[in-house]
Amino acid sequence: MSATRIRILSARNVLPLGRGQSGGAQRSDGDSKLRLLTSPHLSPSSPARALSSLSATRRGLPQEKMSENGMMSRAKVLTIDNMNPTVKKVEYAVRGPIVQRALELERELSEGMKKPFAEVIKANIGDAHAMGQQPITFFRQVLALCSYPELLNDNTFPEDAKSRAHRILQSCGGNSMGSYSASQGIESVRKDVALYIERRDGGMPCDPDNIYLTTGASDGIVTMLKLLVCGEGASRTGIMISIPQYPLYSAALAELGAVQINYYLNEENCWSMDINELQRALNEAREYCNPRALCIINPGNPTGQVQSRQCIEDVIRFAAKERLFLMADEVYQDNVYADGCEFHSFKKVLFEMGPEYSKSVELASFHSTSKCYMGECGFRGGYMEIINMDDEVKVQLTKLVSVRLCPPVPGQALMDLVVNPPQPGEPSYDSFLKERTATLNALAEKAKLTEQVLNTVQGISCNPVQGAMYSFPRIIIPEKAIKEAMALGQQPDMFYCMKMLEETGICLVPGSGFGQKDGTYHFRYSA
Ligand SMILES: Cc1ncc(COP(=O)(O)O)c(C=O)c1O
Repeated sequence: MSATRIRILSARNVLPLGRGQSGGAQRSDGDSKLRLLTSPHLSPSSPARALSSLSATRRGLPQEKMSENGMMSRAKVLTIDNMNPTVKKVEYAVRGPIVQRALELERELSEGMKKPFAEVIKANIGDAHAMGQQPITFFRQVLALCSYPELLNDNTFPEDAKSRAHRILQSCGGNSMGSYSASQGIESVRKDVALYIERRDGGMPCDPDNIYLTTGASDGIVTMLKLLVCGEGASRTGIMISIPQYPLYSAALAELGAVQINYYLNEENCWSMDINELQRALNEAREYCNPRALCIINPGNPTGQVQSRQCIEDVIRFAAKERLFLMADEVYQDNVYADGCEFHSFKKVLFEMGPEYSKSVELASFHSTSKCYMGECGFRGGYMEIINMDDEVKVQLTKLVSVRLCPPVPGQALMDLVVNPPQPGEPSYDSFLKERTATLNALAEKAKLTEQVLNTVQGISCNPVQGAMYSFPRIIIPEKAIKEAMALGQQPDMFYCMKMLEETGICLVPGSGFGQKDGTYHFRYSA
């Protein structure tokens, strides 16, 4: 047995020993305390002796185990039984067991195994570039220049890309994208975001001080939820989320120990929101929790609907009447395809409803570089705008985001380009417009095609895909298959999607991962 092992055993695993503690001269203070604890010369009544004489289990310490090769190994400090229980409640269907199986199938195919299909088609996640969508050249040129400023001397880059890179670098500490930024985000980027929002919303004012740059929209959403959740028992915060929903919401609520309040979208009316249903959900929830916020995803994931202006007004009135904080997830704001549909931001509608609402209703809205025509999920860019937030809460919000220093600076730079793309007359304008239009047209075409093709299949019915990047068709699963699924302990739509994957190589997400009305079954298909 090595000297180190002997020392560890003699200490009965009370404290860990670091390397380099063998020489007396280099002994740390911690080491001498450890020696004191384990010294045979301790007085029988000393607290240290009393402690060391308790068994490891009674002191809540990991015990030693004999491993297969006869060596003593320490049991894990962190186990499934003593880990944070809220984390165990988290579920995220978009990357669940179906996706794991899809990866296995891909590996099996690459090893030459015979399957009824030649490739796995990943229709489970809205990861546009992974599915072959091309990045916007101008964005990547500016990001390349920012990452490696030597390229500013390269004549192949257009002048507008260079001047943009120069501007971004000037606002970075030490002129490097590798430095931390202000926690709320680079000031010049927040100003550009504010100008973008003003243009988008027909001139409604936007204060850059209300803009927080985030690590994708996910980060902003979770941060806002953290601010909202408090209380115990019947006064625990309840958060209203749509069903079907994007599982970030249910996962974050589970992790924060908040109460999830489900309101159902109306499938019969193209997944619209229904105020009566909001009222039902709220009234029922008030019996067991304290509902404080209402989350809306528009355009919708996984359901692909675009809310009408009237509906948004009704929701704002409802939130004002019921004193709810509004969270508007608008990451698909450029993904609107259906005739007669238009994106209306919650901020714009709120301000158009006049001071009775615009001066009181609290709102956080979220946007991202991951969706729309950009699809740049990996850069983790995003922002949130907060409206009518209490000044003291805002101080707490700024404190909270500063704990994590800052969102990734390349993501912030990308967000800047999204909100401030090339303008008419600039060298990159034509190619930018061409690429943007081509991507949005392709997405619109796929949305139409998805709806048409799915509706030709017996047992599947699909609402029009008005926006976003998904369809959520309803499937009829025969009784026999439902029974077989139950016997395997699987949700019937999980069973259906697994069979679909094994037989066709198409990777879908079962509707149960997003929530659905009892007795109905769906899957989500990403176009
Ligand atoms: C509705 C919705 N909100 C938020 C997100 C998270 O986006 P991000 O990559 O910006 O974190 C997604 C991602 O798919 C989404 O669909």
